[in-house]
Amino acid sequence: MINNVVDFGSAELALKRIFRTDKLLVTSFRSHSFSYGVTFLYHEQRYYAKFLKTRKFGRDAIDLLSSEKDAISLVKGFPVGSTEKSVPEVVKVDEDHLVIVTVELEGQRLLEACKSCLSRVTRATTGSIGSSNLENSFRLAGEFLAELQAVPVDFMSFNQRDYLVTVQKRVDSHLKYIFQESGTYLRLFDKKLQSSVNEGRFVPVWSHGDYSVGNILTSDRGISVLDLADLGVRDRSYDIVYFLLQFHRLFSSRVKYKKGGRAKLIQAFIEGSGVDLSALFSCPMTEICLIDLLSLQAYTLKQWERGARFGLTKSMRGFLEYVVIRHEIDRTIGTIKLLLEGKPMSPEAVYGSIAKLG
Ligand SMILES: Nc1ncnc2c1ncn2[C@@H]1O[C@H](COP(=O)(O)OP(=O)(O)O)[C@@H](O)[C@H]1O
Ligand SMILES: [Mg+2]
Repeated sequence: MINNVVDFGSAELALKRIFRTDKLLVTSFRSHSFSYGVTFLYHEQRYYAKFLKTRKFGRDAIDLLSSEKDAISLVKGFPVGSTEKSVPEVVKVDEDHLVIVTVELEGQRLLEACKSCLSRVTRATTGSIGSSNLENSFRLAGEFLAELQAVPVDFMSFNQRDYLVTVQKRVDSHLKYIFQESGTYLRLFDKKLQSSVNEGRFVPVWSHGDYSVGNILTSDRGISVLDLADLGVRDRSYDIVYFLLQFHRLFSSRVKYKKGGRAKLIQAFIEGSGVDLSALFSCPMTEICLIDLLSLQAYTLKQWERGARFGLTKSMRGFLEYVVIRHEIDRTIGTIKLLLEGKPMSPEAVYGSIAKLG
């Protein structure tokens, strides 16, 4: 059977089939970019069903479902996260409907929590989180990463060569959009990659892969981390860089935010993760992760050319604000070039720009 879930009704029908019952009440249906999110009630328990959108994944969808399930059970085997609700509990996976059902977790996404707490215009509404609570959630988000990174990598099959080949391929394909003279930069990238590996500065750890404020729920009980399908082994800087980048993308330049709010949250996250930022940012592997992530952002250069300027500048400015203060597209490309040419990022610049964020 094909996954034909597109609305409330078809989701309800699919779930009733899967659970072989009529006594199941669908309470909400939402469309996300890659999935439909359906909450339902069954035997007085609330569940969350994630139906993958077939057209987004094609044949990879089934693999993705099982990776998410495997990732969750892998993480549950270790003391990662402070409570047993730190990651979702899988109840059912159904390949015919491309759905993974988990017990519904309490809480608000850190994404919305940040927006409503830091925005100067929206007044705090009931149920919204206070700023000290938010800071604590960011600290917990950092701690979760520290715990994840403390799991010995041998528990997951890991092949450094494959990893590097994947990164290389991604960067290759994305950098082509940015540089006409990509050949030169790809060679530089190769050299950089090789030297970091040779110097032994590549630190493979467990990595979430999509660690962002959109995938973390916060509540009185702490945080829960969702969306584990990309769990894998990567350099230790990956999730940290990714988290900060995605966090930054949240903030539209058109909205006014409270002064000092963001910097405090970042500090709390960094403290929780226990990383030494200056050590991290003087490591060539971090630069490679940065280039990888920046080129991933720059992938939308095509869109930018077609006029979707806003989306791109917003994402491009992202991480760089933490690293080299304010950049626009040309300067971003310039930064990737500088990184490739071996100009080191100074830790002062990193800290300085965090402080400047206000
Ligand atoms: N177990 C759960 N309990 C409550 N909400 C959930 C649960 N799983 C997912 N969600 C909600 O659905 C959203 C999308 O789920 P996610 O697993 O991140 O899928 P996607 O791959 O589409 O991003 C989350 O951001 C969260 O708000
Ligand atoms: Mg998600």
